[in-house]
Amino acid sequence: MQRIVILISGRGSNMQAIVDQCASQAWPAQVVAVVANRADAAGLAYAAQRGIATAVVAHRAWPARAEFDAELARVIDGFAPDWLVLAGFMRILGPAFVQHYAGRLLNIHPSLLPAFPGLNTHARALAAGCQAVGATVHFVTAELDHGPIVVQSVVPVQAGDDPERLSERVLATEHVIYPLALRWAVTGRLALDQGRVRQLDGQSQLLIQA
Ligand code: GRF
Repeated sequence: MQRIVILISGRGSNMQAIVDQCASQAWPAQVVAVVANRADAAGLAYAAQRGIATAVVAHRAWPARAEFDAELARVIDGFAPDWLVLAGFMRILGPAFVQHYAGRLLNIHPSLLPAFPGLNTHARALAAGCQAVGATVHFVTAELDHGPIVVQSVVPVQAGDDPERLSERVLATEHVIYPLALRWAVTGRLALDQGRVRQLDGQSQLLIQA
């Protein structure tokens, strides 16, 4: 059984999709803990209700970033994860933390990386006149919202779209591609070669949402 730990900061809808599909598709894996950097992260209640261990490492209690990272890693390592999953985790993690989990640390970002790392991706994409937006699941490197791409979703922009409408349609694809990426990960179906990810069964690493 592969052990998955998920980090969240808020509602945790991606975390919920992963927990649900892990159980309903009987992955050889278990979400063993959900850890948040805020005690009021709404997703914690869902995890607890599913019988999953929860923990809070409040970033406010650790003003120095390196100390927060170290405490977070200490708590996470207590759950001995094979995979560490960032699901709407809104803190930047330092290079030592990222290195510690290298090769087993995944993130989802609501843009077609490498375009639009950082915040407000949908507003920035609309302002740039993008005709399509999307989401990316990637291995995490020390550079923000950067790293080998596991799977992407593409969502066409429609007339009258605003950032909220776009984010709803992109989020629906996130709930498909993040569990998919993780299922591949826990079943050993991902190969990382010279900074590129290959799905070993040749399955498509692209979801196009018409
Ligand atoms: C998602 O759009 C994710 O891509 C981004 O933050 C949002 C988190 O949503 N990093 P949720 O907490 O998973 O519902």
